[in-house]
Amino acid sequence: MKLWGGRFENAESKLMEDFNSSLSFDKTLYHEDIVGSIAHVKMLKKCNILNKKDVEEIIEGLNSILQDIEHGKLKIEGDYEDIHSFVEANLIDRIGDAGKKMHTARSRNDQVALDTRLYSKNMSKNVIENLKQLINTIKKLAEENNFIMPGYTHMQRAQVVTFKHHMMAYYSMFQRDVKRIENAIEIMDLSPLGCCALAGTTYETDRKFTANELGFNGAADNFLDGVSDRDYLIELMSDFSLIMMHLSRLSEELIMWSTKEFDFVQISDEFSTGSSIMPQKKNPDAAELIRGKTGRVYGSLMSLLTTMKGIPLAYNKDMQEDKECFFNALNTSLSCIKVMNGMLGTLKVKKTSMFKAVKKGFLNATEAADYLVNKGMPFRDAHGVIGQIVLKCESEDKSIEELTIEELKGFSELFGEDIYEFVDYENTISRGIKKEMK
Ligand code: ARG
Repeated sequence: MKLWGGRFENAESKLMEDFNSSLSFDKTLYHEDIVGSIAHVKMLKKCNILNKKDVEEIIEGLNSILQDIEHGKLKIEGDYEDIHSFVEANLIDRIGDAGKKMHTARSRNDQVALDTRLYSKNMSKNVIENLKQLINTIKKLAEENNFIMPGYTHMQRAQVVTFKHHMMAYYSMFQRDVKRIENAIEIMDLSPLGCCALAGTTYETDRKFTANELGFNGAADNFLDGVSDRDYLIELMSDFSLIMMHLSRLSEELIMWSTKEFDFVQISDEFSTGSSIMPQKKNPDAAELIRGKTGRVYGSLMSLLTTMKGIPLAYNKDMQEDKECFFNALNTSLSCIKVMNGMLGTLKVKKTSMFKAVKKGFLNATEAADYLVNKGMPFRDAHGVIGQIVLKCESEDKSIEELTIEELKGFSELFGEDIYEFVDYENTISRGIKKEMK
């Protein structure tokens, strides 16, 4: 069934009908579509545009459609152009002429803009909830595993850090992600309903009423912008892309740390898989999939940015392309956050292996230079002295603290017995700014 046709002489080609239809994906918006229509007709009654009886019939009809969909009695399928046509056609089937009045003072342009805004706003809150759970899991994991570990730059062992401090870096990243989404919700929190096709309506409608009814902060300022703004989807997908980038970096570390070469963590059986041929294998598929799925979220963002860049005001059908990429980015991000939460909640951290790694790689070399600085040597000279000591240690396969005091004094008279305590790994963590890592 079509919502248009009066000015057409020939039927639409089947090819065109399939090409044009969005029902297979915009059916996701059925709830928002019905809720939006109920608010719309309540407003039409309040403004004396529709009478009480018609509006009551429409609301009852819409509620029965909603229930039937939710109880599986009504399947969203058939030759409908989109979810809006599907609901309106069903309503007319159920209640007859009153159903034909629902679309007074509205266009599918403001209707789809409303549905998408309601849906994305609601689902973004869901993303925030899941991010908060992940943040809590990270904090718990960090606090329960406050062990020293090697910190890296250029993937080379650099200085001593703690596993807690390392994990709390991700805590900070995901906290920023929460704030970014909250900010996006605040910006998008205006209702486009009542902008109609592009120019509002000559009926005396009340856009503030519907905005309030639907939980928005207000109504869109400009009609043309209201129907054609998709910034909020792009902004949310940018936020999802950053979340995925953070998840992907963390995944990469988990994959590395769970190799025999690192052996810092063990990913639980619940979030690992095996090999069909190699009996010994336990693979970090969950982390690899998160890392891999990052690409599709970035791709969705690029897709909508590109779709929107050449569209003149106001609504153009190109915009129908917003939904599949947004749903894809949203659902992918949500499942990745949940899987990461599960993986970290069951992760085993290997204190002894991490400490073994700390002792190899001169992670206390900077501290040794600072020791000489404390004894009065300029830092650049101290850097050079310790560099020479490292060279000697490397050729003898020793660490700095394994050299005797005589050997150390050979490089500088400033060395005393207290050097050993100063460069002790635990002590370096406890001192100065590194207290924050505790
Ligand atoms: N399916 C369309 C979309 O998602 C709904 C709006 C259609 N409006 C129109 N004038 N054809 O964008």
